[in-house]
Amino acid sequence: MLRTRLCELLGIEYPVISAGMGAVALARLAAAVSEAGGMGTIGLAAMGADAARAEIRAARELTARPFGVNLLIPFIGPGLIDAVIAERPAAATFFWGAPDDFRDAIGGLKAAGIKVLWQCGAADEACAAVAAGADAIIAQGIEAGGHVRGSVTTLALVPEIRDAIGAVPMAAAGGIADGRGLAAALALGADGVVMGTRFVAAGESAAHPRYKQRLLRAHASETTHTKLYDIGWPDAAHRVLRTAVVEEWERAGRPATGARPGEGAAAGTMPRRDGIASPLVRYSVMPPAEYMEGDLEGLAFYAGESVSLVREILPSGEIVRRVVAEAAAIIARRLAPLAG
Ligand SMILES: Cc1cc2nc3c(=O)[nH]c(=O)nc-3n(C[C@H](O)[C@H](O)[C@H](O)COP(=O)(O)O)c2cc1C
Repeated sequence: MLRTRLCELLGIEYPVISAGMGAVALARLAAAVSEAGGMGTIGLAAMGADAARAEIRAARELTARPFGVNLLIPFIGPGLIDAVIAERPAAATFFWGAPDDFRDAIGGLKAAGIKVLWQCGAADEACAAVAAGADAIIAQGIEAGGHVRGSVTTLALVPEIRDAIGAVPMAAAGGIADGRGLAAALALGADGVVMGTRFVAAGESAAHPRYKQRLLRAHASETTHTKLYDIGWPDAAHRVLRTAVVEEWERAGRPATGARPGEGAAAGTMPRRDGIASPLVRYSVMPPAEYMEGDLEGLAFYAGESVSLVREILPSGEIVRRVVAEAAAIIARRLAPLAG
């Protein structure tokens, strides 16, 4: 059912990928998505090489099925790509950089049998990624939650990139949270979808329970595209919920970094493995995670416009099954009959 060339490439049953989301998409979520026949992705953004190795091994304990890892380019530290190559997950997804600079890294990953996906928000970057050796593209529209690379909506971007890259496998990301989104993405020329926000609210995600609850109540119009949460990653656009902290900053006239309300204030603590808690500050790039303590209101509640469609916390395997069944039913019962 719904087997596409993305499924062939990745060795998965269904064309549904959970986004590699730093700090919240860990082994538990990735393995559960993969167990259900999709492809889970571990977000390595907040990890050094040793932590990445341990997380990949933890996922492998939970599933024998293919899963991926996400390499967020500004956060690739020493030894991280070598650690990924040594651990050989099924796939690695890159985000936020110039593909040409990663020709060697892509070659090294592919030589180890790791499929390389490149997430971008523009057709020229997609073409550059294919030229640099990427096996597949993730086309991310501006509706997406988390960091947003481009400025075009998913509806316009996916067919544009399809025309630009020919038959190269592609997944659509941004604004997709159910089977209707999957069916639409396939119609636009994608071979599958990447969902982030929907999986933040999954049972196995490491998002803080308060963050998950907030997503269930939120509407797309309560998200904002901003560069506000820049401590740890300056000048990078992202989509977050408009929390009290965002509203306070807007009311203050949107002052620049360094002059914002509560600048530098503690937003919580993150206990480290050695028992020493590291502080989190307001406007930090970190999302609220279950292993953090304190108020956490000053952190980034990343959410895409798809948040309006996220209304319950479900096990991620159930999300995969529902999305695929809904899409198949839409294609068979609504779309196919229209073609006479
Ligand atoms: C909480 C959160 C964290 C994210 N972190 C990353 C990341 O570390 N690396 C990355 O490539 N994309 C990241 N993204 C973006 C996703 O890869 C994806 O493009 C996006 O979630 C798709 O839009 P959706 O949220 O509407 O499904 C993140 C998204 C969210 C919601």
